[in-house]
Amino acid sequence: MLRMLLLPLGLPGPYKQVMPRSDTTRPGPAWFFREYEPAGVDLGSPAAVAAYDRNQGTDSDADDALLDRLGVVTGIRLVDLACGTGSLVVQAARRGAEAHGVDVSQEMLAFARARAERAGVGAHWHQAGFLDYAHPAGPADVVTTRSALHQLPDFWKQQALLNVAGMLRPGGTFYLWDVIFSFEPADAAEHLQRWIDTAGRPDGRGFTRADFEAHVREEFSTYAWILEGMLERAGFDIVSDASLTPTHGEFLCRRR
Ligand SMILES: C[S@@+](CC[C@H](N)C(=O)[O-])C[C@H]1O[C@@H](n2cnc3c(N)ncnc32)[C@H](O)[C@@H]1O
Repeated sequence: MLRMLLLPLGLPGPYKQVMPRSDTTRPGPAWFFREYEPAGVDLGSPAAVAAYDRNQGTDSDADDALLDRLGVVTGIRLVDLACGTGSLVVQAARRGAEAHGVDVSQEMLAFARARAERAGVGAHWHQAGFLDYAHPAGPADVVTTRSALHQLPDFWKQQALLNVAGMLRPGGTFYLWDVIFSFEPADAAEHLQRWIDTAGRPDGRGFTRADFEAHVREEFSTYAWILEGMLERAGFDIVSDASLTPTHGEFLCRRR
């Protein structure tokens, strides 16, 4: 994600992750990726999560436009992985979908639950990760994830995509939006610097240059051509893909 990049690195006290999220409490081999211990700055307070929601520019019209594209109507079972503050899940529930929001962060899920309560809709919230989420209901019709798969290094992205394929019905839809690179590798420095320079906002007015710099330095965004291979190997046909800028893109896929 722009993992909670709205806060400068090194801030003390409540802005640091305060909840121990050690995977040592979860079953599994010692080599398993610690997805509950994200590297770098995390959001550890309700105020910081609320600031994240503002900076992210949550927009119910944009959520609705995406849900229309994905054919999410009454009765559709949708899972949003790394749902964050829950806007897409709440909009899906408003239109009668069986909507599931999954996130490793208790603070994010608390914000998302409150959003659903304010909207007067029921949704299912799960504290779980890309890698360990075990879908409790029948197969999903639609799985989405936005601004989050880059949390995982590439080996673990592939494992996460296998998990997504496993929770979808054959023919089901997977939508991925993220910081995804489509520039030529030799031109990386130029494109990354341009992104940081144009997207960074002054302190208090959105995500800052330092946030984007930390994203590149510490997180695991990758190239579209790498993701294409991973999606195909996980059992997806790519219906469409778009590189909306040299640093951001989406994939719309069908599970074979
Ligand atoms: C940048 S936010 C994006 C949230 C939301 N999808 C959106 O578009 O606003 C990234 C989210 O990923 C969550 N996250 C980080 N690592 C995760 C993992 N391994 N599995 C599930 N969620 C994860 C974080 O807690 C955070 O809520």
